[in-house]
Amino acid sequence: MDHHLTPLDVTQLPSWRALQAHRQALNSFNMRQAFNDDPERFKRFSQSACGLFLDYSKNLIREDTLELLVKLAEEAHLDDAIKAMFRGDVINATEGRPVLHTALRRPVGDKVRVDGVDIMPEVQRVLHQMTELVGYVHNGLWRGYTEKPITDVVNIGIGGSFLGPQLVSEALLPFAQKGVRCHYLANIDGSEFREVASKLNAETTLFIVSSKSFSTLETLKNAQAARGWYLAQGGSEEELYRHFIAVSSNKEAAIAFGIREENIFPMWDWVGGRYSLWSAIGLPIAMSIGISNFKELLSGAYSMDQHFQTAPYARNIPVLLGLLGVWYGDFWDARSHAILPYDYYLRNITDHLQQLDMESNGKSVRQDGTPVTSGTGPVIWGGVGCNGQHAYHQLLHQGTHLIPADFIVPVSSYNPVADHHQWLYANCLSQSQALMLGKTRAEAEAELRAKGLPEEEVQRLAPHKVIPGNRPSNTLVVERISARRLGALIAMYEHKVYVQSVLWGINAFDQWGVELGKDLGKGVYSRLVGSEETPAEDASTQGLIDFFRGRHRG
Ligand code: F6P
Repeated sequence: MDHHLTPLDVTQLPSWRALQAHRQALNSFNMRQAFNDDPERFKRFSQSACGLFLDYSKNLIREDTLELLVKLAEEAHLDDAIKAMFRGDVINATEGRPVLHTALRRPVGDKVRVDGVDIMPEVQRVLHQMTELVGYVHNGLWRGYTEKPITDVVNIGIGGSFLGPQLVSEALLPFAQKGVRCHYLANIDGSEFREVASKLNAETTLFIVSSKSFSTLETLKNAQAARGWYLAQGGSEEELYRHFIAVSSNKEAAIAFGIREENIFPMWDWVGGRYSLWSAIGLPIAMSIGISNFKELLSGAYSMDQHFQTAPYARNIPVLLGLLGVWYGDFWDARSHAILPYDYYLRNITDHLQQLDMESNGKSVRQDGTPVTSGTGPVIWGGVGCNGQHAYHQLLHQGTHLIPADFIVPVSSYNPVADHHQWLYANCLSQSQALMLGKTRAEAEAELRAKGLPEEEVQRLAPHKVIPGNRPSNTLVVERISARRLGALIAMYEHKVYVQSVLWGINAFDQWGVELGKDLGKGVYSRLVGSEETPAEDASTQGLIDFFRGRHRG
């Protein structure tokens, strides 16, 4: 067994112990002071790659912190783990699979072998199949049952078969092709179905049933509802093939649903759901922005793959972000991490990163089944700025938790309105500045005195006005969100998550925890509808079932 599957105990590494001692030494570290002492700090702790600029100078680090973190990555053999992933080793050991979403963005001519077979021709074939379909739809050649061209594409999928495509198609709205609108139907909530369907005309709608497994409850229920709706609107079984296509690795189930074999886009076991937007799961993206922009997205991600594999750790953006996350989680007791995009088009990135990070690194045992000895993935949360400033930033500034944050902001806007973008950018910067600088007691008192308040009032109010500061953040600046830069940005986070999983020795690519809820859901459903009479496993759940049944009786 490769050593990345029999993980080292990271907490026993010399660099980990050195970091523990170093953490103590940094008890009184003050970022404000560090900036005053070192005019080069911004330059020292910033890095650009693949169209992204990372300022990580507002972190609780010194140069020797970085050296120790880099040492940690070396001692944990991160390099071997990176090679193992790109090479196609079976690093998802609990499912016996390689992890090769990176193959999806490789250029033509590259070779990647799985079980001795080069998978790249198949990757290119599917990309070609996507190109054809998108071309037909965009050129009005794919027609519905009344021979009208398709105007609306509805992606039916959830989790990775929804969040990534939704993020990208919304983020790249300025590149959207005219004539085709994209919609997403994810949840089993009938209200969502009704609201989406109310915007559609069955004659001109194409549904993409997007499910790697083709067994996900929400997706299958929505696909059935969509099919019923299509028939009720006047569509026929014979013409169903014009309105339903699928993306799945479970061809048989898609065929059984009624989708023609030639309209099924394959998925492969070696692509995880939350890493699948680069595959045919990205069809709604390509439908929205066109295939050449989709290829740009892939090439941006590829450039980040290259950077990740070749840049020295101290200049490697995903490695740096991963190490900083470990630094805060394991040495500063940070339990969550905020993602704060200052860009309307990027507003869904937090949702995507929640699945990417939390489904990947929300684990408690290591690759070999032994309990972790360190912390693992943080709670990922956040939302678009400035909105968050008027909601939850208060807690970032004065709450008792240390919450590192990533600010993401474009330099230019696609939609300049007066000086809005200057204000948006200024707010992003001033938030990270406020988190770092804070306000001392002396400053708070001076401010209050300057307002002419009596000394008693100054003393009463001052503690409330003190802002601790010294709170860490990264700022990621991009010129404008293009397909290429967005590809690089998403791939950057994918690799950050992988770096952390390697250090913690966990498998970032399975998700057994979500299965229990799915299994129990079947039992609860049977009791709700009365097909199972035995009581639920616990009185709380049974009480809530009774509540539901009581309301729906007669
Ligand atoms: O339940 C979790 C999950 O398996 C995710 O990992 C996945 O992205 C999502 O469900 C959807 O799965 P599928 O594409 O197979 O419908």
